[in-house]
Amino acid sequence: MKKLFGVIGDPIAHSMSPVMHNDLFNHYGIDAAYVPLHVRKSNLEDAIKGFKAIGIDGFNVTIPHKTEIMNFLDEIDPLAEAIGAVNTVVNKEGTLIGYNTDGRGFVRGLTEELSSLPDKKVMLIGAGGAARAIYFSMAEAGVQKMDICNRTTEKADLLKKACPFPVNTSIFDIEGASKCIEDYDLLIQTTSIGMSPNVDERPLEFNQLKIGCFASDIIYNPLETQFLKEAKSLGANIQNGIEMFVYQGALAFELWTGIFPDTKRMKKNVLNQLG
Ligand code: ATR
Repeated sequence: MKKLFGVIGDPIAHSMSPVMHNDLFNHYGIDAAYVPLHVRKSNLEDAIKGFKAIGIDGFNVTIPHKTEIMNFLDEIDPLAEAIGAVNTVVNKEGTLIGYNTDGRGFVRGLTEELSSLPDKKVMLIGAGGAARAIYFSMAEAGVQKMDICNRTTEKADLLKKACPFPVNTSIFDIEGASKCIEDYDLLIQTTSIGMSPNVDERPLEFNQLKIGCFASDIIYNPLETQFLKEAKSLGANIQNGIEMFVYQGALAFELWTGIFPDTKRMKKNVLNQLG
């Protein structure tokens, strides 16, 4: 029987996941369809009951349901539980299991570009939902020194306290981080600052970076944020948010099918969709 997958969110029309996953199903000869499903907050519980009733094989979860969905699943992977958000659900013989592939996807995308990740001195910029998934997943991957800078330092403190894996973290406000940014091997920008249409904004100022510094921004619209442009002009190697998007999708696809897909193909597909 044809397998059924989807992505739930509100809004959902502009999700790039359906085209990306349908291309993969086609490429690997899997008889399956992946559809965008518009689910409002007030309908989430009913939607999940419906998915169980029809035996959906799996689905992705996006804004605004990533946390709320946890109330309606049968099991939650420990990392997703710690992060407090689920972006991928697997239907295992009628049991709905929630995972978070955002943070692990970010880490996987990063290790394609960077060797010896655990030895890097990391500065994480931001302390929101995306930062939480990345911080915990980087700690899970063995990163030992990872500082956080955020406008609201209390939020960074909460992140640090909640992390289930050992990691050495100091917390900075924006001004404090600007002063020591050249000490870091890896900068990870997780806020929405610089996202289209506010393309001239950047989360912090710097005029020097460590030699060999790598800068990553989870934003992919624009493909090069002001933060990445400035880091590049100071000699850093850079990575935009396409990798995180592609690798979270690749890990979801692997959870559903057992196949870790061709990420180069996925990246091409996403760039095509972005136009
Ligand atoms: P997400 O779930 O996408 O990560 P979020 O939870 O709203 O979004 O977090 C947004 C992050 O961007 C936070 O780190 C936020 O800083 P605060 O914790 O101080 O609010 C940061 N952020 C957003 N807009 C900002 C701005 N104009 N200046 C500084 N930081 C900003």
